[in-house]
Amino acid sequence: MIINGKEIAKEIALKIKAKLDNLKPKKPNLSVILVGNNSASLTYIRMKKKACDHVGIDFDLYHLDENIDEKALLKKISYLNNDPKVNGILVQMPLPKKINENEIILSINPKKDVDGFHPLNVGKALIGDDSGFLSCTPLGIKILLEKSNIDIQGKHVVIVGRSNIVGKPLAAILMQKKPFCNATVTVAHSYSRDLIQITRSADVLVAAIGKPKFITKDMVKTGSVVIDVGINLEKQSDSTTKLVGDVDFENVKDIASYITPVPGGVGPMTIACLLHNVYKSFIQTV
Ligand code: GUN
Repeated sequence: MIINGKEIAKEIALKIKAKLDNLKPKKPNLSVILVGNNSASLTYIRMKKKACDHVGIDFDLYHLDENIDEKALLKKISYLNNDPKVNGILVQMPLPKKINENEIILSINPKKDVDGFHPLNVGKALIGDDSGFLSCTPLGIKILLEKSNIDIQGKHVVIVGRSNIVGKPLAAILMQKKPFCNATVTVAHSYSRDLIQITRSADVLVAAIGKPKFITKDMVKTGSVVIDVGINLEKQSDSTTKLVGDVDFENVKDIASYITPVPGGVGPMTIACLLHNVYKSFIQTV
């Protein structure tokens, strides 16, 4: 069965829109900082703006020059931290190499950190304190599983990829002593030995590696659930590009009990969860 992330994301967005309609004329504000012109970042930001427009969240983009120094970026964040009309601050990653991403994340007011990247929010996710913001992609995956009625309690979830944005926070969330969590979680990565044995032992396999079609059919147990976090542009023989995930979808779909497609799986859920986090921040102020 193919999990329709687009549909589930739409449901979430509609619920947020209805709640925001009731709070009019008050509106939340998401302020986004983009440094430079990374083409993937520009695409993501366009999608985030469209989603915000749709549900009634004000979206301000601060598009800063590639060569801006860290001090000037910190000043901009400090301004947004102190602006009462701003509910969410999102600094699009990656940042230019000469800027220290950790310092930038640390400077964001944790109460406006709708990405859930600030160490305070990461720590709250780890200890299961729901007052913070969860990182959008892991939260989206948890909701996808829940809405598809896939209970991971006692199951073996294998996450391939240990990024701060997906792998690590997802492991923290799915191992919590909470409903629709309680999983046994393994995080595998580029140094893991016998990866195929690990992935084949997964009841739920999450691919968050960043390599097109890395997870092949032989790495997947028949009947397992496969969640594909990858967003890769693959060159085609006719020199066009195609969006593909980290899973060899065409071959894996026949043996998985559930699988998320790319596009239309995890991606839309990430954006829906950003809306959710902005709403969560906003209602704490109204
Ligand atoms: N770059 C890739 N994904 C994300 C995300 O979820 N948030 C931010 N801020 N940057 C990203």
